[in-house]
Amino acid sequence: MEHVSLDHLYSSTSRKAQPSAIREICKLIDKPNMKSLAGGWPDPEVFPGTEIAGLISNLMDQNADLALQYGTTEGLLKLRRELCKLVDENYNIKCSTDQILITHGSAQGMDLICRVILDPDEAVVVGLPSYFGAFGTVKASRGQVIGVPVDHNGMNIANLKTTLDETAKQGTRVKAVYVIPNFQNPSGATLSMKRRKEIIKIADSNDLLIIEDDPYGDLRFEGKDLPPLISMDNSGRVIHLRSFSKTFSPGMRLGYVIGQEKIIRQMVVAKQFVDCATNTLSQYILLEFIQNGLLDKRIKSNIEYYKKKRDHMLAQLQKHFPSNVKWNKPSGGFFIFIHLPESMDASELLTDAVKHNVAFVAGQPFFADGSGKNTFRLSFSQASIDDIESAIEKLGLLIKEKLSK
Ligand SMILES: Cc1ncc(COP(=O)(O)O)c(C=O)c1O
Repeated sequence: MEHVSLDHLYSSTSRKAQPSAIREICKLIDKPNMKSLAGGWPDPEVFPGTEIAGLISNLMDQNADLALQYGTTEGLLKLRRELCKLVDENYNIKCSTDQILITHGSAQGMDLICRVILDPDEAVVVGLPSYFGAFGTVKASRGQVIGVPVDHNGMNIANLKTTLDETAKQGTRVKAVYVIPNFQNPSGATLSMKRRKEIIKIADSNDLLIIEDDPYGDLRFEGKDLPPLISMDNSGRVIHLRSFSKTFSPGMRLGYVIGQEKIIRQMVVAKQFVDCATNTLSQYILLEFIQNGLLDKRIKSNIEYYKKKRDHMLAQLQKHFPSNVKWNKPSGGFFIFIHLPESMDASELLTDAVKHNVAFVAGQPFFADGSGKNTFRLSFSQASIDDIESAIEKLGLLIKEKLSK
């Protein structure tokens, strides 16, 4: 059947939308022998399949009438109560059940925030680099993205101030600063205590929201936890996003948003038009998982598991990469970020690497200003120890080869 073209019926926003660099590379590397350090996905080895099978069986015996029914848009009340307790005990975040919205992953939380706060051409400040899923969401809401450099202590504060001054002079309304405070995707950087305080002050004096997206904070391998920005802020300007994708299961699509009650209500109204409610069965499974103490246990074992992989990747980098290539040592999370010499192009390296069955994500898509050509992101989360070793060895050889030309 010959379909007519409908391209002219797409909205201008949809016409401009770019596919995610990671989804594109996933298509490219979907080959049996590929050693992929690309996707920031958890290792299926640590999925709690057996525990979940038991929980589902009990749920179907005892609670099928509720677990298979529509739920409220805010999310299961019992789960929100459990989360209030959990965030108080684990992160010193004090909130009521009316300040929590359960979402389909933190990606949906970000989408709802953008729907609620952005008018066309209003801006959100993000790190250079930063997770492109989040700033893609800003663009999909017809917002603008403004980049501020990130170093090993997180977003550069002096730069943030000058950027805000300049955008104000140009007449652009900035509504929020987006930060990934712990083991940032992709740089692995953790926002220092000093900068956390400064960003809160800047948000106050510039009348901004802070979007604090923390999917990796539970996976700290060493050092002391730093307080979430939302626990340090008295004015209610912080919207805190969390995800169960990295510690429980991304396929369950569960996350939550904490914020002041009024903004959560706005988001609930927006969510009603998107999907009515979050998957009820997933929420019941998670509730049982938390109440049985399984989440705490799982997080502890995940920390050990991923720390070994991080250490292994760092050791391989040290062994195989030339000394003019630089990288960070993240204290947690899934990622190590690589800086090649300025003259090199990571996407050319990627093309060669894929031919040798090795994949990573080139850094440029993480830079909202189009810079970062000489950078790339390695993920140690999903690849096996053996694949990490051979992939890094191969990459080291390819880099040395390119540098010698
Ligand atoms: C910083 C950041 N935010 C949000 C997400 C999306 O997570 P979720 O699966 O909860 O939607 C990711 C996923 O990789 C991420 O790295």
